[in-house]
Amino acid sequence: MADGTQHAAAWDRATLTALFDPETGWLDRRVLSDESLYQLELERIFARGWNFMCHESQLKAPGDYLISYIGEDQVIVVRGADGEIRALLNTCRHRGNALCRAEQGRAKSFVCSYHGWNYALDGELIGVPGQSTFYHGELDKSRLSLAKARIESHLGFYFATLAEDAPSLHDYLGVTGRAGLGMICAHGEIEVAEGVQKNIIDCNWKIAVDNLFDWYHVPYSHASANTAGFLDIARIQFPKDQMVMLGEYGHAIGGPGIPRAAQDQINALTDAQRMELSHAQADMAPRIRPRAATDLMGPEGVRSEGHPNIFPNLWVTISGTQMCLRLPRGPSHTELWWYTLVPKAAPPEAKREIIRRMNHVFGPAGLLEQDDGENWSQSTRSSRGVASRTLGHNLQMGLGHDEAKVGAGGEHYIEGLISEHGQRWLYRAWTEWMSARDWAELKANHSAPPTGRV
Ligand code: FES
Ligand SMILES: [Fe+2]
Repeated sequence: MADGTQHAAAWDRATLTALFDPETGWLDRRVLSDESLYQLELERIFARGWNFMCHESQLKAPGDYLISYIGEDQVIVVRGADGEIRALLNTCRHRGNALCRAEQGRAKSFVCSYHGWNYALDGELIGVPGQSTFYHGELDKSRLSLAKARIESHLGFYFATLAEDAPSLHDYLGVTGRAGLGMICAHGEIEVAEGVQKNIIDCNWKIAVDNLFDWYHVPYSHASANTAGFLDIARIQFPKDQMVMLGEYGHAIGGPGIPRAAQDQINALTDAQRMELSHAQADMAPRIRPRAATDLMGPEGVRSEGHPNIFPNLWVTISGTQMCLRLPRGPSHTELWWYTLVPKAAPPEAKREIIRRMNHVFGPAGLLEQDDGENWSQSTRSSRGVASRTLGHNLQMGLGHDEAKVGAGGEHYIEGLISEHGQRWLYRAWTEWMSARDWAELKANHSAPPTGRV
């Protein structure tokens, strides 16, 4: 994708690279507040990367559609008459009006509310009022189809990109991204529950993303949830058994990990024995995964109980029970879209119970997000002040103390104490995406996941 705007001109490779130092863990706070960096992110990260659009269960029948975003470009994601899912830019080819105003629904075609141009579900322009009179039969409809984004899927999750030269979704996700999506399906087929919860927090989108790797804040920020008896932090945190997986292009997973010896014991069990053990566990404890999960997550990845982030902005939470998209809305605002995932085969009352519980964990009514949102908002605000924006963020935890290993499935993983390896990987990748002018440069210059001392 060509860029070359004034935003690119303002930030050359050297100045962009200097915004985060992976050797010391210092982050320049302008990364969280500068308007021209934000505009460059829309071009070089969001338009170029693979953005989560939907799960196949959200678009069951031909004509089912929903609105999603690639950065600030609105997209109609729609299942066509032929059953194919497409991503069409939601902007009329006449005078740019947004064609589709509903967030989701079922349509036979999309008619523009301005002058009535009508588009088929595959984006083709099929009707123009006054075509033979006002246009004298001269309008070439074949050149005025809706613009399309590339769309591909993995395990039923659809992602779209505006970059023709992007690698396939499979290659983009790599081992770590595929393990992250595999975590959601590790217990069997899932579907997205009706109703995506949406709210806006006044924070930079990256603050929300770096927090998902942050298990340091959990006992402090979320102490009230523990005190209220809602969350037993000791049962979920495992501060000395942490596992961070790092993948290409910024994908990462961070959080508790099952120690190898414990996983070896699990591996010796049948699926029926694992199920029995899971039922005997406390409510919020992650369920023991069945054998098939190893194929989805890899022999080491299957030990992760952490939080995956599919770069740039798709968070998979709590062993794959919810997902959250962090959509950028300017440098100081982020729109959060919360999805609850339920086992496809579960009876309706079990699905209702999962949805009820998850609504109280994350999302606008979630106990945990209310704690987080306030901190993210204030970190963003203080990154704007003339003096406070010069101070930098400290991300040095664990630096130089750990060992990155490679699993038999190609997983790059680090085990040990709570650390900031995941956050450093995020900002390192951010500088690489931001300083590459196209995919060829990004492929050539991005960091391979590390091995050895980190
Ligand atoms: S802007 Fe859509 S028909 Fe004119
Ligand atoms: Fe939190």
